[in-house]
Amino acid sequence: MTSIPQAPDILSPEFATDPYPAYRVLREHYPLLHHEGTGSYLISRYEDVERAFREPVFTSDNYDWQLEPVHGGRTLPQMSGREHAVRRALVAPAFRGRELRETFLPIIERNARELIDAFRGAEEVELVGQFATRFPINVIVDMLGLDRADHDRFHGWYTAVIGFIANLAQDPGVAADGRRAGEELAAYLHPVIRQRRAAPGDDLLSRLCTAEVEGIGMTDQDITAFVSLLLSAGGETTDKAIALTVRNLLAHPDQLAAVRADRSLIPAAFAETLRHTPPIQMIMRQPAADVTLSGGTVPAGATVTCLIGAANRDPRRYARPDTFDVFRPDLTPANAFSAAAQHVAFGLGRHFCVGALLAKAEVETGVNQLLDSFPDLGFADDTAPADAGVFTRGPRQLRLRLGSARG
Ligand code: HEM
Repeated sequence: MTSIPQAPDILSPEFATDPYPAYRVLREHYPLLHHEGTGSYLISRYEDVERAFREPVFTSDNYDWQLEPVHGGRTLPQMSGREHAVRRALVAPAFRGRELRETFLPIIERNARELIDAFRGAEEVELVGQFATRFPINVIVDMLGLDRADHDRFHGWYTAVIGFIANLAQDPGVAADGRRAGEELAAYLHPVIRQRRAAPGDDLLSRLCTAEVEGIGMTDQDITAFVSLLLSAGGETTDKAIALTVRNLLAHPDQLAAVRADRSLIPAAFAETLRHTPPIQMIMRQPAADVTLSGGTVPAGATVTCLIGAANRDPRRYARPDTFDVFRPDLTPANAFSAAAQHVAFGLGRHFCVGALLAKAEVETGVNQLLDSFPDLGFADDTAPADAGVFTRGPRQLRLRLGSARG
């Protein structure tokens, strides 16, 4: 008789060290598990997580308490129906197509170059602190047309806002810091918004001030809440994604060599990183009615925690799910940044990540410039650092030996 392993605790230290063995136990033995610590139902199979993202019965009302207090207003993730469709249409065009290519790509390239230039010539870099956590925030500040001298202040607000969102243990000090940062950000933005309404430019903030869909525009509060959302949704995620993509490639020298030789493989390396080691490991939902999933029924009004990191390694979905393989046939890079994605790292359905193509442009630019600048890039102490974090996850530090620099 084979014994069934004990149900894992996603708030335990072992889980924080390495969640993947626990995800395996959950998928195989507890596909639906009520977890006391978070007061939520855990789901871990790809099929169930996909349904939770796609089916409207799974509302995102949980964001009313997860996001609204720190952003100081309603934001896209908590909206549904027409409110969501109109609000999404107001902001989405800025993050794709010509707008992204022509207006924002030069900003992305310049910011990557400036950060890399600051450590060119050094023997070593700590890529998380000196590049990854700075790059996406600097890009957002510049896209919004805000003062570049304020990059550091934004970095501080961003750190406090993501602290609030990832505060699974509900530490009151962390929550207060997050709310204070939200208020400071709003106070900083209000006079700038007034100026942009009076004299709009072609920056993202001016576009948010003037955008209109079906006669609806954005109030000052809508805009400050959206900017606060951008810092968290577009900052920490992309920061982790860059560090993870570089770490995963350096840990697989044959795949790194292939990507060095053919840079059109970078999107595949990023897509496989999103599947194998997703920066956001879990997202919540709140079903409006009883729903039956693998393993049982979730009652209406309960909170469901969708374990993205578990779903993305479901053997029902992927061959050799624990293997990092840029060439895997069961993940198509061409779809990986659209709602037709074959992974759930950007969600799926109506809330599919608005910034997926921006993230792709940032990771492509950052990785390309790093590979161009440092032909001998390697781990500083010859070992790949492990990841840390439960809600979001990535290497805390990534010390790299730079070798001789080029360019
Ligand atoms: C690798 C980087 C990124 C990852 C892994 C990621 C992940 C996600 C996920 C999982 C969702 C769905 C949330 C849900 O369904 O509840 C989402 C939504 C969203 N993301 Fe991203 N994201 C990334 C980059 C970005 C960037 C660069 C931006 C913009 C600057 C952005 C803006 C948003 C917004 C505004 C939403 C809400 C969309 C809606 O509710 O309709 N994200 N993202």
